[in-house]
Amino acid sequence: MIVDLAGKTALVTGASRGIGLRLVERFIEANAAKVYAVCIDGEGLAKLKERLPQVETVQVDLSKWDETVEKLSPLDPVHALVNCAGVVEYTKTGEVTEKAFDFHLDINTKACLNVAQIVCNKLVATGQQGAVVNISSIAAQKHPPDHLAYSVSKAALDHLTHVLAIDYGRHGIRVNSVNPTVVATPMGVKMWSDPAKSKPLLDRTPLGRFNTPDDIADVCLYLLSDKAAMLNGVILPVDGGYNLC
Ligand SMILES: NC(=O)c1ccc[n+]([C@@H]2O[C@H](COP(=O)([O-])OP(=O)(O)OC[C@H]3O[C@@H](n4cnc5c(N)ncnc54)[C@H](O)[C@@H]3O)[C@@H](O)[C@H]2O)c1
Repeated sequence: MIVDLAGKTALVTGASRGIGLRLVERFIEANAAKVYAVCIDGEGLAKLKERLPQVETVQVDLSKWDETVEKLSPLDPVHALVNCAGVVEYTKTGEVTEKAFDFHLDINTKACLNVAQIVCNKLVATGQQGAVVNISSIAAQKHPPDHLAYSVSKAALDHLTHVLAIDYGRHGIRVNSVNPTVVATPMGVKMWSDPAKSKPLLDRTPLGRFNTPDDIADVCLYLLSDKAAMLNGVILPVDGGYNLC
């Protein structure tokens, strides 16, 4: 299936590396009229701009609500949004600090709401339709050890997907979650490169492997395309069947 985003504007958060970077490249390959790459990482965005000058970059710390509104509100209407920026640190039950909890909720949940509202409100105001994908995690449903704050932030994100799917769905804007197991990115390497941690997970995965960034990008492109015209409010595991076991 070839996804064609001709005439559409796309925006990806967390675009400097990992899944977000691959999404930017795939949006260009899919002929998107304009691609916004949004991220906190100025150096990563500069490298991206050097390689792909047609991409419009916006540096912003998405945990800062007002700054995000200020920087993203002036952009053109966005028809395909992927809320991909995310953070994870080990948080062990009994030792979770307020700072660690807020850190995960601010970026993995609140920022997705803020960006989705900015994008969707503009579509509604201009009478246009579009689609949003929130990159969640299998951790929203199955809780890996010592991931309390991350798991809660992603479970809240899935609920946010449901509410936004209802409220913006009435305006023709679809909102879905994509929930990967481990993905081969800097985040995936940081959390799962120790086989003692990753092997139990892999052993429970019927397909016997983790994700590549393209596995996730393929699903996002499908959900954002007209081929998924009736998919709204879906929480979609991309996990090789891990969720079943
Ligand atoms: N890698 C995995 O194993 C995995 C598994 C399941 C879900 N996910 C989810 O996929 C998404 C992308 O993960 P990844 O593996 O590409 O991660 P990554 O760490 O490789 O990249 C994260 C991106 O988010 C950006 N970012 C972080 N904090 C930010 C902030 N405050 N403001 C703006 N940008 C910020 C980073 O600069 C970077 O570009 C995340 O939401 C993550 O939770 C990843």
